[in-house]
Amino acid sequence: MKRIFIANWKMQLLPHEAVNLASELQKRLKEGVRNCEIVLAPAHTALAAAHEVVKGGPLLLCAQDCFWEERGAYTGEVAAAELRELGCAYVLVGHSERRQYLGETDEMVKRKFNKIINSGMRPVLCVGEKLEERRKGKAKEIIRRQLETVITGFGDKEKKFVIAYEPVWAIGTGVAANPEEIGEMHAFIRSIVKKFITFDEKWVRIIYGGSVNAKNIGDFLKVPDTSGALVGGASLKAEEFEAIVKSR
Ligand code: PGA
Repeated sequence: MKRIFIANWKMQLLPHEAVNLASELQKRLKEGVRNCEIVLAPAHTALAAAHEVVKGGPLLLCAQDCFWEERGAYTGEVAAAELRELGCAYVLVGHSERRQYLGETDEMVKRKFNKIINSGMRPVLCVGEKLEERRKGKAKEIIRRQLETVITGFGDKEKKFVIAYEPVWAIGTGVAANPEEIGEMHAFIRSIVKKFITFDEKWVRIIYGGSVNAKNIGDFLKVPDTSGALVGGASLKAEEFEAIVKSR
């Protein structure tokens, strides 16, 4: 499977700023990078305009969230079908900021995850433990719960998705997890995936997120079973995100 690098722009850019950054990246990366998917995740408000910029390829679009219902009276929510119409290939689901500030539960994440898959897009399921959970030795227990709730009942239906391991304590702090911590958790995540999924497990890629930058990405990509990164702060600078994507 190809590596995947996702630029998570969160709520950091106005629509015109997101379009400018998308255009700059499109210019820098228009030849693509061999064996690699480059994915931009602007806010919902910038998706339509960003799609105009990247629709010739090779960059792909990702939404930061979506609702689980098809259509209806759900003021303020955004449906998976809307995102697909705006050209999204991927949708983030269960990001820790949504769990923390919006009260998203594993059950809600599961419903969203299924909706995204059934709408013909690929979910990027974010999982990660908080610092106090790691300190108490509960990191794996948390990851197991976050994962198992969502991927049970999948059976042998071949579905492609991405799991982003993002320890909450590493997000936006400048303190990334170290390669040993990432390797241990990715192996643990893979063991759960193997238990629940009977189709070819290579369709499930595992990536790391949390204070990734152009300097540390090389170390992370050497970690076994690491297929790329989910990048927040460092993806707001075209030059740095380009360096991350092109690192080997
Ligand atoms: P960060 O964010 O790279 O700024 O730590 C990562 C994320 O939240 O996806």
